[in-house]
Amino acid sequence: MSDALFPVPEDWAGSAKIDRETYEQKYRRSIEDPEGFWREEAQRIDWIAPFDTVKDTSFDRDDFHISWFTGGKLNICANALDRHLDTRGDQVAILWEPDDPSSPDRKLTYRELHAEVCRFANALKANGVSKGDRVTIYLPMVPEAAIAMLACARIGAVHSVVFAGFSPDALAGRIEDCQSTIVVTADEGLRGGKTIPLKANVDAACEKAHVDTVIVLEHTGANVPMVDGRDVSWADTVAGQSADCEPEVMDAEDPLFILYTSGSTGKPKGVLHTTGGYAVWTSMTHEYVFDYRPGQVYWCAADVGWVTGHSYVVYAPFMNGATQVMFEGVPNFPDHSRFWQVVDKYAVEIFYAAPTALRALMREGDEYVTQTSRKSLRLLGSVGEPINPEAWDWYHRVVGERRCPIVDTWWQTETGGAMITPLPGATDLKPGSASKPMFGVKPAVLDPEKGTVLEGATSGALVITDSWPGQMRTVYGDHQRFFDTYFSQYPGYYFTGDGCRRDEDGYYWITGRIDDVINVSGHRMGTAEVESALVEHHLVAEAAVVGMPHDIKGQGIYAYVTTNAGTEDSEELRMELVQWVRKEIGPIATPDVLQFAPGLPKTRSGKIMRRILRKIAENDMSNLGDTSTLADPGVVDDLVANRPQT
Ligand code: PRX
Repeated sequence: MSDALFPVPEDWAGSAKIDRETYEQKYRRSIEDPEGFWREEAQRIDWIAPFDTVKDTSFDRDDFHISWFTGGKLNICANALDRHLDTRGDQVAILWEPDDPSSPDRKLTYRELHAEVCRFANALKANGVSKGDRVTIYLPMVPEAAIAMLACARIGAVHSVVFAGFSPDALAGRIEDCQSTIVVTADEGLRGGKTIPLKANVDAACEKAHVDTVIVLEHTGANVPMVDGRDVSWADTVAGQSADCEPEVMDAEDPLFILYTSGSTGKPKGVLHTTGGYAVWTSMTHEYVFDYRPGQVYWCAADVGWVTGHSYVVYAPFMNGATQVMFEGVPNFPDHSRFWQVVDKYAVEIFYAAPTALRALMREGDEYVTQTSRKSLRLLGSVGEPINPEAWDWYHRVVGERRCPIVDTWWQTETGGAMITPLPGATDLKPGSASKPMFGVKPAVLDPEKGTVLEGATSGALVITDSWPGQMRTVYGDHQRFFDTYFSQYPGYYFTGDGCRRDEDGYYWITGRIDDVINVSGHRMGTAEVESALVEHHLVAEAAVVGMPHDIKGQGIYAYVTTNAGTEDSEELRMELVQWVRKEIGPIATPDVLQFAPGLPKTRSGKIMRRILRKIAENDMSNLGDTSTLADPGVVDDLVANRPQT
């Protein structure tokens, strides 16, 4: 951990919306008088009808409920688009940058975006979609991804965006779980010069899941087979649709979207967010965290397939009148300078990305950065995983030339928006620390075993003690799972799954997951998911998966596999199993190491001792702890002796 402290730069202290005193005063008010605080913050939204109650929430088992702005009516799409038409209709909303810099880019003003969204909303209706229906979106980073999401919100349909890197099986599982009968996709995606067969993946998914309609965007122009009576081209279905579509009147607690995320057990959960609280929370956090003023050029490099792309690409920036870059490509194509070339091309002022990308670029040397100007940059952001002080320093010194504060924002799919984060005009920065809670957020650190509250400088399990407006409301179709996953381990608290340290200045340092979730390149992966993919292979008897330290990805995937008796544990089989997982879930789940294990370390009652497997994966053999309680301690010696060199 670094001891360095970077005080708020003078120009920021004097000009930011939130300075040190305002932060203290607003934070105190948000905790002491949440009703008053949120009633005022909610005024940022255009309500069709006012809410009756600001906050009606309880984390207690016997009275468990979460409702914000109850009775209020609004439409979040109208808040993102319609309200800007008079004041900034001709301002650019999306600056779309294609994967290949020599391909044409695209610009859409608020007026154009509004018209496209209305046309697609009408097209969805014409295809039978109505309020409350679930729409699966499986699109690359093209403006149509935002258009499709906003169109759903406009008519009250619930979108479920599936990251375009997921496999047909993963897609099918998500389609089935939320019983969505319509999928919006593209012929192909493009990333780093490679094509991704999106339509073919949807076709494969449709063999497993029941789908009535597939809308196919012509993106690369590839010739993809269309199924009669099921598939329709985007262009054909929007042709002739009106550019007016009355926004549906939505209740504050009506569902807005489902987004699947990995947990420590079972299949991915459909995290459900509702409308009013999410609108207030994402718009407020975006404004304060990025000190955002309408028209500033903003770029969040996240994909719309993840929550960051939902909250800080599609919803909050548009609600706040942003001009934003939307980027189809990857940081290292055509070369490692691409991010910074795009920054220069559009004079980006605010840039928000994941540490994994920064670590990959850092490794390639400073020249790729320093050959660009980046003089437009004022503020840098980080999200998705802990940023190590080295990467922080590089981001600050080389990319931001020491003039740009870094907002290291800690949050989760479940939290809707930034929970613990510096504010650029208010918070002195400590590299590697997400620093202080956002307004309305009451974190606490618990003793992980006893569940008691720890005070002062300490470390333990990170929980949140009271509700905030952007909190998820349920696991789609399984409310009990929602309660059990987040509120049962430490009764009365929302358990984040993260460990943290709080220092003597009250700064929070997120140390990573303390459950069976691993964070690979800022993406969540459940060890149970990878295990179940492995055991589906006919030669695998058992599998155990843990995280391992990885220089670029933060964490890598380490799989221990026991094959069926009589199977030869060959190099070919090892490679086949790695490819198998990739195919079953998607490239992000590819194991970095796969070790054949004649046996797994188990207690006499049959429980796998993951602690030992983690230590072996970390190559920390001096610290294996007590193995005497194992059913067969010899298993460990074998695993240690045969650990592949990494
Ligand atoms: O472990 C934390 C890590 O990412 C997890 C949430 O992942 P996901 O739901 O995919 O959302 C990622 C984007 C918000 C958290 O439980 N995490 C996220 N941001 C940070 C972080 N860890 C440390 N520092 C962060 N800034």
